[in-house]
Amino acid sequence: MFGAKGIVGLDIGSSYLKAVQLRETRSGYELELFDTLPISPELIVEGSIIDAIRLTESLRELVRKAKIKAKDAVISISGHSSVIIKRISLPEMSEEELSESIKFEAEQYVPFDIEDVNLDFQILGPKEEPGQMDVILVAVKKDVINDYVSVVKEAGLNTVIVDVDAFALENMYGINYEIEAGKNVALVNIGASTMNMNILKAGVSVFTRDSAIGSNIHTDALQKELNITYEEAERLKRGEMLEKVKPEEVTSLIVTASNEIFSEVSRSLDYFKSSTLQAEVQEVILSGGCALIRDFPSLLSEKIGIPVMVAEPFKNIVLPKKFDVSLIEEMAPIGAVAVGLAIRRPGDR
Ligand SMILES: Nc1ncnc2c1ncn2[C@@H]1O[C@H](COP(=O)(O)OP(=O)(O)OP(=O)(O)O)[C@@H](O)[C@H]1O
Ligand SMILES: [Mg+2]
Repeated sequence: MFGAKGIVGLDIGSSYLKAVQLRETRSGYELELFDTLPISPELIVEGSIIDAIRLTESLRELVRKAKIKAKDAVISISGHSSVIIKRISLPEMSEEELSESIKFEAEQYVPFDIEDVNLDFQILGPKEEPGQMDVILVAVKKDVINDYVSVVKEAGLNTVIVDVDAFALENMYGINYEIEAGKNVALVNIGASTMNMNILKAGVSVFTRDSAIGSNIHTDALQKELNITYEEAERLKRGEMLEKVKPEEVTSLIVTASNEIFSEVSRSLDYFKSSTLQAEVQEVILSGGCALIRDFPSLLSEKIGIPVMVAEPFKNIVLPKKFDVSLIEEMAPIGAVAVGLAIRRPGDR
């Protein structure tokens, strides 16, 4: 079995490292650990590890700070340049048969050399057309996986599962929310450099999309317009004040920069609508650092005309007394992916 020390969910974001560890109890999940650590923005760029040595140091620091005792980790990869997730239609066949032929079937859908990717799939079930079935195909670049796994190893942890952000969000949703038949919910995670979207129809994923946009555009705008450092801009985003800057100015720069993100969310929702399914999304569950930016969720809701709820990844997770509940609630939205990773176990699907 996987040691008594458990398995830690590690979300290696380009601006924050997040760790979550859960204990399965008879009635559900109990929190063992939740911690975050900001990292320098030049360590991971466009989903690729640029500085493995410094990233390893930061991971080690998180392990120390969070007192992570686990030896096994579940990590995730995201981004349109290293992950391909596609819903495809194939002739009906068994799981075993598809395992045999997946490489051949996937070839036409994956824009990279098929030898360079790890393939995975999930059979969703039969389609309306007889003899056909729906399958979710996942392809992740091997070299990207290897880079992440080796950094995690250098930090003293053994990677037991490599997931993708969009599916981690789905698992986070699964343990915290009631699934309503006939409802389409968009899980939207907006971090520093990437936006992940996963649209669920009655709790089942029907559309996923990653875009290269995130809260870095806020940081860039603040830095450029106010002539301040990256660290200062990050502090302003967290709601802190700087003596030399007027709060109204910060608000207006953040609102202006946010428009670019709102447009991308709209584009992705439109793309979903225009793809075969033609369905409306009734609710957005927003996670990631952008959900923490003041007024961002309400402005987004106004822009897209859909209710936006800030994700509550710990809603159904019991928090033992040692945790500062208000601190956890405050940071909760950026823990969404890590919670989804923390519930994965080897061989669980
Ligand atoms: N109160 C806050 N605390 C932490 N981050 C915040 C806060 N407000 C805004 N942010 C911003 O949110 C981003 C961090 O969010 P998150 O951890 O979801 O991103 P990430 O996973 O590191 O990035 P990505 O997945 O895009 O690589 C940073 O850009 C940070 O400045
Ligand atoms: Mg992230």
